[in-house]
Amino acid sequence: MEDQCPALSGAVAGKIAPETEQNCIIEVPQPCGLVIFGASGDLAERKIIPSLYHLCLDKLLPDNFFVLGVARTAMSDDQFRKAMENAIRTASPRGYTDESCRLFTEKLYYIPMDYGEFSQYRALTDRLLSLEKKHNTLGNRVFYLAIPPAVYETVIQNLGDSGLSQEKSGYSHIVIEKPVGRDLASARKLNVTLRRSFGERQIYRMDHYLAKETVQNILMFRFANSIFEPLWNRQYIDHVQITVAETLGIGHRGGYYETSGVLRDMFQNHILQLLALTAMEAPALFEAGRVRDEKAKVFRSIRPFDLGRLDETVVLGQYDRGSLEGTDVPAYREEMGVAKDSLTPTYAALKVIIDNWRWKGVPFYLRSGKRLSTRKAEISVHFKPVPHLMFSQALDGGIAANTLVLRIQPDEGIGLSFQAKNPGSRACLNTVLMDFSYRNVFVLDDYERVLLDCMQGDQMLFARDDGVDLTWELLTPLIEKLEGESGKDNFPNYVAGSAGPRPAAELLRRDGRAWRPL
Ligand code: BG6
Repeated sequence: MEDQCPALSGAVAGKIAPETEQNCIIEVPQPCGLVIFGASGDLAERKIIPSLYHLCLDKLLPDNFFVLGVARTAMSDDQFRKAMENAIRTASPRGYTDESCRLFTEKLYYIPMDYGEFSQYRALTDRLLSLEKKHNTLGNRVFYLAIPPAVYETVIQNLGDSGLSQEKSGYSHIVIEKPVGRDLASARKLNVTLRRSFGERQIYRMDHYLAKETVQNILMFRFANSIFEPLWNRQYIDHVQITVAETLGIGHRGGYYETSGVLRDMFQNHILQLLALTAMEAPALFEAGRVRDEKAKVFRSIRPFDLGRLDETVVLGQYDRGSLEGTDVPAYREEMGVAKDSLTPTYAALKVIIDNWRWKGVPFYLRSGKRLSTRKAEISVHFKPVPHLMFSQALDGGIAANTLVLRIQPDEGIGLSFQAKNPGSRACLNTVLMDFSYRNVFVLDDYERVLLDCMQGDQMLFARDDGVDLTWELLTPLIEKLEGESGKDNFPNYVAGSAGPRPAAELLRRDGRAWRPL
């Protein structure tokens, strides 16, 4: 009984049951043991363990599987199981039953340890070996670092020195969460530490945006349909907008966010990844190495910011008090763990130029912020207007150009706006929408996808070292210059619940364009 995941009957509400998918079989990974560093922490409780439970319900975990939780807190296996049961109950209503949860948590174990104490890695190895024997996991291991970045290097080095990174009978993979460094130098240092113990093939640098179904769909949409790709260039596209707007504030993450800010937190990873997928060339094969090669080429083609003229390409903001859905919310500077005179930006809008053949003259406008009026992540491709308006006598103004919107969340889908004649009238046009919605057809959420992929050895949705370097190379000079400026005394400069700081609109207005409304 212990090795059986509870079965699901039929389709899970809002998801396609694995057996009903066509051409989309999700493979169950090989036997594997998952070691979670930081197992008593927030990430394990909110995301990793509930996602594993869902995978188990969906019969997507191998029968021979276990989780070994590692953290500083002293706890027995039973106490850990109880804590994770509570976490699952809180985080994942989908398909929850006491019995299925009990069967899942039977596979959870725990060992307390001090990450910096090398001698304790001996005990970890012994425990791991005995669990591998018990669950017959063939020596396949994933080490998931759900710990503060400040201890990444200590753990990675100790894993290497204790021989745990070596692949003897099975594979040994390591997953690290963002941030990978906080600038170019620290990212390079972390990558060097990683590579001293693990090969690039073993390293999974996670960006949960890449694991979102709609983000994965960008490449499918572009390269599996012959009608869009011929239009996907400077000849037909006027500009592209990428928006990741959040209504949430900083919550309890003030301590982290104060050392990060929106450029490190959202742009270096998620937003530049979205840009790369939108702008890259088609690889010859849909394969991790080739896709990551093409993304790296995009990063290499982005024009470095002109640090002397940042007012033409960058707008920063920080939220003030305001109101969202009828509730008053505090200013960023009033959040827990945030300095009263903090200059950390919670909003940024950037104008990015890609200097290559395809995108010459097509600006990419990127924006992201916290405490905005709407939660919305989307990529909008704005096509050029028609070259000659033959209806000019009949129509008052011009007509809206076609826009293709890839909606990443919420209301995941794709919309194409075009002009259609108003019935009855002689020459009256209206903008209408052709719309596809993904609602209720999701298979896996982002963490479920990532966990499966690192067990299956598929690195497609993870960042490679050169990609990380290149994105930091682009942003580090910009961040350093902005952080060194004293003139940000206009913070806070947007009201919580608004569309962001006013100058962001100016960034596009200057170019004769406008942001899509949030
Ligand atoms: C994380 C950032 O990587 O992404 C958070 O650290 C942000 O600040 C989050 O809120 C957004 O993710 P999602 O999936 O909720 O859009």
